[in-house]
Amino acid sequence: MNFKTIIEPFRIKSVEPIRTTTRAEREAALKEAGYNLFLLKAEDVLIDLLTDSGTGAMSSRQWAGMMLGDESYAGATSFFRFETAVQQITNLKHIIPTHQGRAAERILFGSMLKEGDIVLNNTHFDTTRANVEYRRAEARDIPIAEGRQPQLIHPFKGNIDLDLLDKMLTEAGEKIPLVMITVTNNSGGGQPVSMANIRAAREICNRHGKPLYLDACRFAENAWFIKMREEGYADKTPMEIAQEMFSYVDGCTMSAKKDGLANIGGFLALNDNELAQRCKNMLILTEGFPTYGGLAGYDLEAIAIGLHEALREEYLRYRIRSVAYLGDILTEAGVPIVQPPGGHAIYIDALAMLPHIPQSEYPAWALSLVLYLEGGIRSVEIGSVMFGRQPDGSEKPAAMELVRLAFPRRVYTQSHVDYLAEVLLHVNGMKEQIRGLRLIDAPETLRHFTARLQPAHGALIT
Ligand code: F0G
Repeated sequence: MNFKTIIEPFRIKSVEPIRTTTRAEREAALKEAGYNLFLLKAEDVLIDLLTDSGTGAMSSRQWAGMMLGDESYAGATSFFRFETAVQQITNLKHIIPTHQGRAAERILFGSMLKEGDIVLNNTHFDTTRANVEYRRAEARDIPIAEGRQPQLIHPFKGNIDLDLLDKMLTEAGEKIPLVMITVTNNSGGGQPVSMANIRAAREICNRHGKPLYLDACRFAENAWFIKMREEGYADKTPMEIAQEMFSYVDGCTMSAKKDGLANIGGFLALNDNELAQRCKNMLILTEGFPTYGGLAGYDLEAIAIGLHEALREEYLRYRIRSVAYLGDILTEAGVPIVQPPGGHAIYIDALAMLPHIPQSEYPAWALSLVLYLEGGIRSVEIGSVMFGRQPDGSEKPAAMELVRLAFPRRVYTQSHVDYLAEVLLHVNGMKEQIRGLRLIDAPETLRHFTARLQPAHGALIT
């Protein structure tokens, strides 16, 4: 069959109602939440694009697999099924389950970093950065220059800057215990990293004797982009491509809440025997015994199945297309988004859309609030509320002010996306009326989760 329509490659067996609210209800909810979408009640949200993390729909096969969960404290059968599933994809030696990605980060950095160290990454995600900084080390982002220009089209905007990588390893190698590459580059717009880039980073790390790690949360989506865009990969399966990606690294951290298609879980995987032992010791201290690592046996089953479902071609084709579909409508209407659309989300360029709001008044945050107020859509700011506070307490505007609309996996259908597009175009039509905000209360780290704000000019919309 050669029909062009790309359909959702599943049918729906169980449904969860979503609730429409009035604009007045949403206005009250926003006030109550201190103008922070993280503090809303989920039942007050119509379409929740806050994150693609842990919000996906599991398959009937995953639910069936959960009944096979072996809840033994040590040596559970579920662990070995999980280990085999991860090793088939990564071929890494030690597979250490964790309750989610940030636990893997904390354990890895806790075992490898000391004060004053530097970690290089194409772009650290917020928890990754915070976990590096918590060790009093520096998280330095070195994406290619194209990756910082939202409107520029480039097939692999997630790439790490290889010249800078080599230069920094030459100049400050003794302070750099590891290099990371995040696939896809979430904070940089969900943009993929090419195989050539990973391979070249491997060669550079080899020359400097440094280990290379993947932040592998969205490895399957990255593999699909390589298949679509990189020469020599069109005829390879996503599994073969993923295997090649992992063949270049010494280890990875993973949040199974993304391309593990699970609601919770993650892992740390690595080859170094001695380091693995130290990580397992730390795991026992705070997560659990190495054959469950903070998860139930049934979670390990769900992940083992999900990791492989995420590599299915018809799933990835639909997944990437459903995001691009929204991207096409917005681009057509002149709404500035990070181009080309990313793998798991559309990122609206709020600096370009709302040039009248200074960065000190958080334009992306303001836009995300208006999307909720007008249409009940929850998105997330990736801008100066998230990244503006420096470790020394000073303020520095973020490189970009983005609103991320993250697509939960296998959850929403095309009509939901059509509704989203309608709301976005409506908000685009009233953009001059949107006003900025100021922070009134915020913690020192990861402040976006709990900060409270206020409209800086009396109201959000004037
Ligand atoms: N690395 C990346 C690139 C991520 O996107 C995330 C989570 C993590 C690590 C941490 O994983 O949540 O399982 O502890 N990102 C989510 C998001 C929260 O909304 O993008 P976790």
